[in-house]
Amino acid sequence: MTVSLVTGANRGIGLEVCRQLAQCGHDVLLGARSPEAAERAAAEAGATPLRLDVTSSADIERAAAEIGHLDVLVNNAAITYDTWQRASTADLSVVREAAETNLYGPWRLTQALLPLLRRSGRGRIVNVSSGVASLTGMGGGTPSPTTRPGRR
Ligand SMILES: NC(=O)c1ccc[n+]([C@@H]2O[C@H](COP(=O)([O-])OP(=O)(O)OC[C@H]3O[C@@H](n4cnc5c(N)ncnc54)[C@H](OP(=O)(O)O)[C@@H]3O)[C@@H](O)[C@H]2O)c1
Repeated sequence: MTVSLVTGANRGIGLEVCRQLAQCGHDVLLGARSPEAAERAAAEAGATPLRLDVTSSADIERAAAEIGHLDVLVNNAAITYDTWQRASTADLSVVREAAETNLYGPWRLTQALLPLLRRSGRGRIVNVSSGVASLTGMGGGTPSPTTRPGRR
């Protein structure tokens, strides 16, 4: 059985990814920062709920300790599509908050889960990104999504 964890999966793309992975026969861990939202969405998607705020070191450490086996990590959780901002004048508190969720969160989580993914022998990491973070289309606008990891 392939065990997959999807972050930020109580709604949107993450929830649909969970649903489809479960339909494909994966054992899906549905991550969400709200335990209630995780429970509700997991019941809907046929997954197991996991409280996981990707900006919380405590949540990440707990997840790494509790998950016994992992084959696939989908870094999906993200915030802030600040199309109103330009890099030259951006409110950096907005960008910094986005970086905590969109960059450092998945980075820290990936580091914590790497031992499990390596032990799996067929580990995969999927970083859900955005066209705005694509180097080919990058300019001075919408700075927060550019804190997403690059496309793989
Ligand atoms: N939708 C698009 O058109 C589009 C286009 C390009 C790329 N993407 C990428 O696709 C991914 C999902 O997008 P979406 O449209 O489905 O987004 P969404 O509907 O806004 O959902 C974002 C999810 O991330 C969760 N989240 C936010 N901060 C979190 C944190 N600190 N810890 C854990 N979970 C957190 C949210 O939880 P709460 O419910 O608690 O807020 C929510 O479940 C993102 O990486 C986004 O950059 C989306």
